[in-house]
Amino acid sequence: MRIEPSGKALGAKIEGIDLADPVSDADFKHMLRALGEHGVLCFPGQRVTTDDFVRFGRMFGELEINVANQFHEPGLPEVMVLSNMTADGKPIGLGDAGQGWHTDMSYSKDIALANVLYAVKVPARDGRPLGDTQFRNMHAAYEDLPAEIKARLEGRTATHDFAKFWDMMRARPGSRRAPLTREQRARKPPVSQPIFRIHPITGRRVLYCNPGYAMRIDGMPEAESAELLDFLFRHQEQPKCFHAHQWAEGDVLMWDNVGTVHNAVADYRADEPRYMRRLQVMATKDYARLAA
Ligand SMILES: [Fe+2]
Repeated sequence: MRIEPSGKALGAKIEGIDLADPVSDADFKHMLRALGEHGVLCFPGQRVTTDDFVRFGRMFGELEINVANQFHEPGLPEVMVLSNMTADGKPIGLGDAGQGWHTDMSYSKDIALANVLYAVKVPARDGRPLGDTQFRNMHAAYEDLPAEIKARLEGRTATHDFAKFWDMMRARPGSRRAPLTREQRARKPPVSQPIFRIHPITGRRVLYCNPGYAMRIDGMPEAESAELLDFLFRHQEQPKCFHAHQWAEGDVLMWDNVGTVHNAVADYRADEPRYMRRLQVMATKDYARLAA
C-alpha cells in the first residue's frame, strides 16, 4: 500500500490495495493515521461489492442508519444511495445530497468519524467529470484563528440542528426531499457541540462549527452569536483551507468528518446520471490508541 499526499490543504491517494480483500492491521493503522493527517483519502480503481464496502467501513467504527430510509440499499440499511437516477419513474437515491457547506452528523449527539463514498457512476461533460466534492481543512482553520476569537470561544458550544440543512435543501428547485415528519424531527432534536474539539485521531484542535447545521452559540446574546458565527463561516472560506475531489468511477473516497467540512457541487443535470454508495462511520472507537 502506498500513500501519496497531495501536498495541498487536504488529500492523499492510496494505491496498491484492493478493498475487496480484508485489510491487514498494519494497513488499517496507516489508513487511520493518513485520515487524520490528510483528511480526504482516495482509493482509486476499486471494484467492491456492497458487502466488501460495508466490511471496509466497519473497521473504522459503527455504521449509521440514516433517517432518509427510502434510499437505503435493499437489505443493507447502513448503505445509502446518493443518485439522481430513477427506476420506473421513481427516484432511487437522495438526489441532492449535500449541496452547501456542512459536516455530516454534527447535528447528532454521537458524531461521525468519517464518510465513505463509492463512485459507481460519475457524470462527465466534454471529458471533464462533474459533481466534485469540495472540502475545507478545519485543523488549519482552527490554527489560523485570531487569538482573540480563540479566547472568546474557548469552552463554548453551539447548537446544531438537522432541520436547518434539510429545510435549506428542500427549498431548492427540484428537490425530492419531503418535509421532515414529526417522528423524524423527534429523532433528531437540536444538540450542542463544542466549537473547538480535540480531533480523535490527531489529538489536535479543530474548528467544529459548520454553516449547514450550526444555528447559534449557546449562552450568548443573539446578535453576538450571529456575528461570531458569520466570522467563523467566512474564516473557513480561505483558499488555503480548500480542496476539491474530482471523481472517477471506481473511486472509494473516505473523508474525515471531524476535521473537515464539505460541499457537493451540483453542476450536472437530471439526464447526466450519477450513482454513489455512502457509509457514515460513527466515532465509536479509541482512535488515538488505534493510530498509535
Ligand atoms: Fe454531506
